[in-house]
Amino acid sequence: MPRSKKNQEAEVSIDAIELLQDQHREVEDLFDELENTGSRALKTRLQLVQKLAIAIEAHSQIEEKIFYPAGREVDEDMTLEAYEEHSVVRHLIEKLKQTEADDEHFMARVTVLKEMIEHHVEEEEGEYFPKLSKKFGKKRLATLGVEMQEAYDDVTESLQQAVQGRAPAASRKKPVSADLHA
Ligand SMILES: [Fe+2]
Ligand SMILES: [Fe+2]
Repeated sequence: MPRSKKNQEAEVSIDAIELLQDQHREVEDLFDELENTGSRALKTRLQLVQKLAIAIEAHSQIEEKIFYPAGREVDEDMTLEAYEEHSVVRHLIEKLKQTEADDEHFMARVTVLKEMIEHHVEEEEGEYFPKLSKKFGKKRLATLGVEMQEAYDDVTESLQQAVQGRAPAASRKKPVSADLHA
């Protein structure tokens, strides 16, 4: 099916800040979904944690590798603080991933992770992004946006593959040893 004109345009021009803010909204939606699950929805909770972990990691990576290095030229202190907050978020995600979905600590860990992210997003959208936006101008934001979208897609794909690779052997389509002789 031919790509629509809208999609072709989107490929050549993506505002970096709009892209990052859209990703923030996606993460917030996933938190809403997760918070609406009951303690017996074990499989759904597990899937949502996995989705959240991938969405947050891919977003964090493109900020750290592409956006923050550019932002550092504008505000070094805020940029360094943002890297530290990502590291706290990663720690909280690891802890959540190790928590059984029916554990009494599960929702408390979701809430703390969500609050940490809300704080981080507030700083990015309220102060950091507007400051960078003024300095960069539309053209640079568009270049950064395209670069980040591509990187985001690549990182998401490899994170999803890593999750599938970690699935129990019984759920894989064929045993690993078969690959060696392929
Ligand atoms: Fe962000
Ligand atoms: Fe961030």
